[in-house]
Amino acid sequence: MKILVLNGPNLRLLGQREPGIYGEGTLADAEALAVTAGKQLGAHVDCFQSDIEGELVKKIGEARGVYDGIVINPAAYTHTSIALRDAIAAVEIPTVELHISNTHKREAFRHVSYTAPVCMAQLQGFGIQGYSLAVAGLIAHLQCTKK
Ligand code: DQA
Repeated sequence: MKILVLNGPNLRLLGQREPGIYGEGTLADAEALAVTAGKQLGAHVDCFQSDIEGELVKKIGEARGVYDGIVINPAAYTHTSIALRDAIAAVEIPTVELHISNTHKREAFRHVSYTAPVCMAQLQGFGIQGYSLAVAGLIAHLQCTKK
């Protein structure tokens, strides 16, 4: 089983960026949590971060036939990107939308997600621990939907 973990804009600054909201853990810590959770459950996890919308769209498009599931923290693109939403819908790969913070406790513009309606699940508010939880939840889902 292969899982792709995608992170969007500004998430490479985790650890330095607004630690009161996102915590002290770095992107490397978050990715390590995802990889370890995958390993423990028998899945291979690849990680990719980009600040560029088109690069994320391209990665999703290339995931078809390669990955069984995707975990994506689209960051600010969550609230703006029809292109990411269309990419997720196009590849028909079970996808979990992940947020470190609970976006519903924050500004009103963060309450809208363009991507959530085409994802199988959404997980938010657990800090970077969400990366292990999302991978574990996705693997459990894939195992019970496997023919
Ligand atoms: C975020 C929440 C988004 O609203 C924000 O733009 C981010 C991070 C989160 O993980 O909590 O960059 O996706």
